[in-house]
Formats: sequence, structure tokens, C-alpha cells
Amino acid sequence: MSNQQPDTSAGQPRERRDESFLEFGVATRSALSEVKRLLADSDLPQSDVEPHFDDFIVARSGDSIVGVVGIERHGRSGLLRSLCVRRDFRRRGIAEQLCALIESHAGNIGISELYLLTTTAERYFAKRGFSECARDVVPTSLRQTQQFYLCARARRCACGAQ
Ligand SMILES: CC(C)(COP(=O)(O)OP(=O)(O)OC[C@H]1O[C@@H](n2cnc3c(N)ncnc32)[C@H](O)[C@@H]1OP(=O)(O)O)[C@@H](O)C(=O)NCCC(=O)NCCS
Repeated sequence: MSNQQPDTSAGQPRERRDESFLEFGVATRSALSEVKRLLADSDLPQSDVEPHFDDFIVARSGDSIVGVVGIERHGRSGLLRSLCVRRDFRRRGIAEQLCALIESHAGNIGISELYLLTTTAERYFAKRGFSECARDVVPTSLRQTQQFYLCARARRCACGAQ
């Protein structure tokens, strides 16, 4: 026996997805390549994302990922990374929501100190309560991450603690 309902949608126009409707949630493995493309489009490192992907959050609009942020765990310290919003979805508060969610996730997994590297969004993070700090005050385990290596090679970086 089957409990399938009859398909009454035949011949009906397909419902259009509302592009302004956003969903936020933990990233699933199937989202990995799309997230990497999004980061690459904004020149952010993406080759080292996979090992940390369980601590990534994405914003979706319809079937597309339009924003992402992640965290790398290092004991009670965390590296906030990969904050990125698709260009055509910027300035709608998506990064704001992603940051709030990842900060809350950090708290839930026992991270008490957050650091980040940025050369382009210092003022953005300053508004979120981050302040600039010297690289040598960052815990050694964080300084040894691939993010630090990639960023140091690619450009000058600032870092901040919350
Ligand atoms: C930075 C970024 C994530 C912001 O995303 P967003 O969803 O547009 O951000 P929000 O809508 O939450 O906030 C927009 C506000 O931040 C400001 N803002 C955006 N980028 C900024 C930057 N680089 N520096 C300072 N302020 C910035 C906007 O001017 C806007 O200000 P307003 O509200 O006073 O008008 C997005 O611009 C991005 O993906 N940039 C490329 C990748 C990047 O630089 N990531 C951060 C490095 S880790």
C-alpha cells in the first residue's frame, strides 16, 4: 500500500521562490563546493575550509548559498573566518546575522575568545566589538593555522579579539 497523495500540481504555474526569503543554518557537506566558489569569488582563502566545515553557517536564498561564515576551534580560542556575502546580496544585514549566529555557536562550543584576520573589513568588525591586536598576542595554535599562513603570504593582515 502507498500513502502517496494525488499530484494536483500538473498544469499549475510553479510557485516562484521569494528571493528576499533567507534561511540560516549549519552548513552541510553537500554545500562545500558552492561555499568554496563563493569564497573564491571574493578572493578569500578556500583551500583549507573542509576540515572546519562542521563549524560553518550558511545563508540560503532559494537553492543558492548567498552567505557564509565559519570558525576554527583551537581550545577555548576560535578563529572567525570566511565571512562572505554574495555581491548581489550585500547590505541587507546578512553578514550581521551570520556573525551573531557564529558568535552564539562559538559560545555553545566553549570558545571564550574569538580572533580574526582581515585586511578589508577592519571597520566592519570594529563595529561588532572587535579591536585590533598585534599578531604576537594571538595564541600560538592560531598563529600556526593555514589561515594565518595563507593570509600572511597573500596580504598584510590585522587581527582582533572579542
Ligand atoms: C564584509 C561583508 C561580509 C559584509 O556583508 P553584508 O551582508 O553586506 O554586511 P551587512 O549588510 O551586515 O552590513 C552592511 C554594513 O557594513 C558596511 N560594510 C560592508 N563591508 C564593509 C567593510 N569592508 N568595511 C567597513 N564596513 C563595511 C556597509 O557599508 C554597511 O554599512 P551601513 O549598514 O552603515 O550601510 C561583505 O561585504 C563581503 O562579503 N565582503 C568580501 C569578503 C570580506 O571582505 N570578508 C571579510 C573578511 S574576513
